[in-house]
Amino acid sequence: MKETAENLNRMAKFGISEGISEIILTTKNAPESEKTSNAAPFGIIWKNNKMFLHLFKGSKTYENLMRENYFAANMTDDAVIYAESTFYDLEDEAFETAASIEKNEEEQKTISIPVLKNADRFVLFKCAGRLEADSSVIIDIEPIDFIILNSGKEGFVFNRGFHSVVESCIHLTRYELTKDPVYIDEIRRHRRIVQKCGRKRDKEGFEILRRKLMELETAGHLQPLEPRNF
Ligand SMILES: Cc1cc2nc3c(=O)[nH]c(=O)nc-3n(C[C@H](O)[C@H](O)[C@H](O)COP(=O)(O)O)c2cc1C
Repeated sequence: MKETAENLNRMAKFGISEGISEIILTTKNAPESEKTSNAAPFGIIWKNNKMFLHLFKGSKTYENLMRENYFAANMTDDAVIYAESTFYDLEDEAFETAASIEKNEEEQKTISIPVLKNADRFVLFKCAGRLEADSSVIIDIEPIDFIILNSGKEGFVFNRGFHSVVESCIHLTRYELTKDPVYIDEIRRHRRIVQKCGRKRDKEGFEILRRKLMELETAGHLQPLEPRNF
């Protein structure tokens, strides 16, 4: 990332800070794809004043960012969008296009990137370099524009229910990769927090996760864990 004081300040203002910030990453799909845009949760890693993505191979986002140089980091506290975009494809109606002008010493060009209509704010990013390994890629990233969609939303209050839905999504993606039942136990623990502390939208988000668990059970990938306990 270009570590200008201005950029660091704007990132912090938008909620992206040191450590790992979880956002919904939106990209353009390949022209032959059924849907034009893709969304899924990913972490923006900020370490030692460097900002990058660590993408495991196998996701559509990985494919898109090996081909495209631009993406948007969408910020929202809507648990339904987190759950839906982790396990399913969002419909094209969920997206709109953000245009921005990228300037450097030699040229000025207009870029267009899909963003989520229902995001509160987003940052447009450029991929500045890729380092591929066997199972993943590290992509250095630079912010190019900062946009607020929902200026009426002020401040941030920690809701355990929302965070438990996001944690459950992470546990279920890990379960899909490893089949380790410890992740299912974790999801059961988070379900109690969603029920106790969550807002309506957090409970709806957890329902999407429950649907995914049922599909895994039906496909024979979740035995004998009895997701009906969820
Ligand atoms: C909160 C959250 C953060 C995630 N962060 C990453 C990440 O940094 N890198 C990664 O490879 N996968 C990450 N994942 C998993 C992807 O979101 C998941 O594989 C998703 O299905 C990819 O969707 P896609 O195929 O539409 O790109 C994360 C999942 C969640 C719920």
